Amino acid sequence: MVSVRPRTAADLPGCVATLCEVHESDDYPHRWPHDPAGWLTPENTAAAWVAEHENRIVGHVVIVDRVGALWVSRLFVRPQHRGSLVGDSLLRQARIGGASMLDVIEYSTKAIELYERTGWTLVDRRPAEWTMSDGRRPVERIYCADPRSNRLA
Ligand SMILES: CC(C)(COP(=O)(O)OP(=O)(O)OC[C@H]1O[C@@H](n2cnc3c(N)ncnc32)[C@H](O)[C@@H]1OP(=O)(O)O)[C@@H](O)C(=O)NCCC(=O)NCCS
Repeated sequence: MVSVRPRTAADLPGCVATLCEVHESDDYPHRWPHDPAGWLTPENTAAAWVAEHENRIVGHVVIVDRVGALWVSRLFVRPQHRGSLVGDSLLRQARIGGASMLDVIEYSTKAIELYERTGWTLVDRRPAEWTMSDGRRPVERIYCADPRSNRLA
């Protein structure tokens, strides 16, 4: 049974261990951060949750206050626990927490399927602010939970 609950400071080592598995299997994040625990708490983080299974962190999400809206960020699920709605539950929790926006790199097809299946609307595509190790600049998609109130200009 997987439960979703608020993240505590004591969860960070487990979150980093799971992030490491995700980085190796999915190239997320593309570059391994110098300070992975810090990366899990971006500037203006408003709340963070973990998914836990038998005392092990199997998923993670935060919401970040950016340009007047709450954005979903740092969403990931341990590879062995995918396909059983852990990502869906974390995304739902972020939505309950007030998140209405998110961005995703266009090659993250599993994440895009999840967002589109759960009713998020594509509102923009733009080049990412960072380049990949081969020099290419990926395309980022912006999704909105409520296009009537949050559509980007
Ligand atoms: C994107 C990600 C978080 C999705 O996590 P997840 O826990 O597998 O997501 P869910 O289980 O909620 O949904 C995905 C799967 O559940 C399946 N599913 C949907 N409804 C279902 C249901 N009622 N019962 C069972 N399975 C269902 C979907 O078909 C999908 O299956 P597939 O992966 O075989 O195509 C995960 O793939 C991940 O961590 N990716 C790497 C990191 C990343 O890209 N993060 C996003 C950054 S923007």
